Amino acid sequence: MIDSCKLVDLPKIPDARGNLTFVEADRHVPFSIKRIYYLYDVPGGAARGGHAHRELQQLMISMSGSFDVTLDDGRRRRRIHLNRSYLGLYICPMIWREIDNFSSGAVCMVVASHFYDENDYFRDYNMFLKEAVYEG
Ligand code: TYD
Repeated sequence: MIDSCKLVDLPKIPDARGNLTFVEADRHVPFSIKRIYYLYDVPGGAARGGHAHRELQQLMISMSGSFDVTLDDGRRRRRIHLNRSYLGLYICPMIWREIDNFSSGAVCMVVASHFYDENDYFRDYNMFLKEAVYEG
């Protein structure tokens, strides 16, 4: 499961006036893009995430600064440092994630496969674990 989460090298168009990167649905992410949201003005020491999704697929990009993402499929954990605007972290369904170690000015943008739906969340780790281990 956790092996399905991958770093995606996004196109980078270098330019003396500033670089340009883009994300295309069904090409750079294996889904149609329904929603984009971003975390910003994160105070030092704060952590986000702390949940998993039943169906949602996401691509997470550090638009500015850096942060760490810990992925957990109920069996294994991986910690990934995101600090490049041309690198996306694809997160498949049924992955518990924690995001921390935000640098000052960090912006975490997430491209998502579905609209926001609270029913899609696992917010209790033990409930997630039960389902993840049962499914696996
Ligand atoms: P949550 O997904 O728990 O944030 P994070 O994982 O980044 O810590 O969302 C925090 C709050 O924002 C929660 O009340 C739901 C709301 N929210 C929306 O209304 N729409 C969205 O697209 C997202 C991601 C969150």
